[in-house]
Amino acid sequence: MRRTLSASAGAFLAAVIGLGTAARPLVAEAPTPQQAVDAAYAKYKGLQEGKNADYIPALAKVDPNLFGIALVTTDGKVYVAGDVKTEVSIQSISKVFTMAQVIQEQGPASIEKQIGVDATGARFNSIIAVEAVKTVSGTGAPEMNPLVNPGAISATSMVKGSSADEVWTKILDFHNSAAGRQLQVLQDVYKSESDSNQRNQAIGALMLAYGYIKDNWQQAVDLYTRQCSIGVNAQDLATMAATLASGGTNPATGKRVLDADKVPGVLAVMATAGLYDDSGKWLYHTGLPAKSGVGGGIIAVSPGKFGIAVVSPPLDEAGNSVRAQKAIADISNALGGNPLAVKTSASQQ
Ligand code: DON
Repeated sequence: MRRTLSASAGAFLAAVIGLGTAARPLVAEAPTPQQAVDAAYAKYKGLQEGKNADYIPALAKVDPNLFGIALVTTDGKVYVAGDVKTEVSIQSISKVFTMAQVIQEQGPASIEKQIGVDATGARFNSIIAVEAVKTVSGTGAPEMNPLVNPGAISATSMVKGSSADEVWTKILDFHNSAAGRQLQVLQDVYKSESDSNQRNQAIGALMLAYGYIKDNWQQAVDLYTRQCSIGVNAQDLATMAATLASGGTNPATGKRVLDADKVPGVLAVMATAGLYDDSGKWLYHTGLPAKSGVGGGIIAVSPGKFGIAVVSPPLDEAGNSVRAQKAIADISNALGGNPLAVKTSASQQ
């Protein structure tokens, strides 16, 4: 026999779960994107955890209270909260786009063979990870990836061009297309990092010694340092993420940046290595391919739905922005952004 809830039983249930007797839905309605963005901004604005990166001196000087959230949907709608216009250096988030550029230019196998697509489980600038790298039996490909510094310097070295200027113009243009506007290098960050990047120089030389960089490691390290110094704001980063969420077309400009069939490989490396040694924990809680940078930005991609980015400079021990991780996880989970959480009619019952 089918049973319906009597008025008194309904009132009792509503009272027990604290809704009172007014006619309100028992199940909370999903927030709109703007509500989700605003709620995360209000919740984490006052959070004082983490510390700016200081191994690049210019990064220590950035205002730690800077906090901006931007979400761009695959149909080009933009939702923002906080400061989404102040620029920070893109840092490691650039690694995603240079990897994508090499995949676009030379095919997915190029990256897989020369750099690898495996998580190292080590810090982003680990030298031991280069020393200890294993190779895939049969192909000899290193078990590394283009999102840690050694693999990223190698990816930059793979961008084709007859001069450093030509390679640089291509790298910057690719970032511009994904952001949908002309970006500029933050010269103070570039100088500061160039003066203090001895560790990356050592990594570049070691990568040459092992044959993972074919030649001119000095040029690769310099161009990598420049790409890390590109200035971006939260809205630029969200547009770049939305370009990946939209199968490679920038939803703001309508321009194709990357072939659709090249996008899944890029997202796979982001999912496994985007937040370095905390990538597993991140994926467990959000399911989102993402990438962090020591400038304080994080981008995350909900394929087919939206790209999201947060800028907030204080970082945790792994080098990932504290507020950005929390805000993105909350917003995406509130909006059903986890691509691993499939909703079928059966799962709704
Ligand atoms: O090479 C470096 O150390 C920096 N230019 C980039 C590192 C980075 O952003 C790591 N991210 N979480």
